[in-house]
Amino acid sequence: MSEFAGSSGSIHSLSSEHFEAVVQMSVEVAFSKAWTREKLELEFAEALSLGCFMPELAAFIFYRDLGEVLEVSWLATHVNWQRRGLMMGLFRALADASSRGKSGPREIWLEVHENNHDARNLYEKIGFQVTSRRPRYYSDGGAALLMSWRLT
Ligand SMILES: CC(C)(COP(=O)(O)OP(=O)(O)OC[C@H]1O[C@@H](n2cnc3c(N)ncnc32)[C@H](O)[C@@H]1OP(=O)(O)O)[C@@H](O)C(=O)NCCC(=O)NCCS
Repeated sequence: MSEFAGSSGSIHSLSSEHFEAVVQMSVEVAFSKAWTREKLELEFAEALSLGCFMPELAAFIFYRDLGEVLEVSWLATHVNWQRRGLMMGLFRALADASSRGKSGPREIWLEVHENNHDARNLYEKIGFQVTSRRPRYYSDGGAALLMSWRLT
């Protein structure tokens, strides 16, 4: 567990007790239609996670460790906690943890709906760059942008 800079919160992985909070948060935020309860159940079983606790769960990231690369699959910040730097803090924690091992991941990948300007602003501020675009990727016909952040 690591302390979250400048607040009373902390950052650590999620466990099954946080499942309902993740479902609730996923229902409440924008761009989350694909994240059904069933899909989130799979994510809990298969993915790694990091949560920011204030002290209740306020933001989370699900990701997979592919060796050279960490692939982020889903993330959200509770509507009451948005624009307070929590997701920036989670990405910083993820990058710090990755850079501890010499052979650890050197890049973080994710995909984002082209019209998700809030998330795109966040990723650009962190340092992600667009590497490719998949037209008509989402069920609403929107394109996906694939983004990458080099950790070194
Ligand atoms: C995108 C999201 C995760 C951002 O989380 P957050 O904790 O509010 O982000 P932060 O407070 O760390 O924001 C850091 C920066 O990102 C950008 N940003 C975040 N939210 C933004 C918004 N609503 N509008 C414009 N820029 C935004 C800003 O540059 C911000 O810095 P600033 O507040 O100093 O201007 C949150 O809005 C969310 O949960 N959205 C719905 C789920 C989602 O879209 N997930 C991404 C799927 S790819």
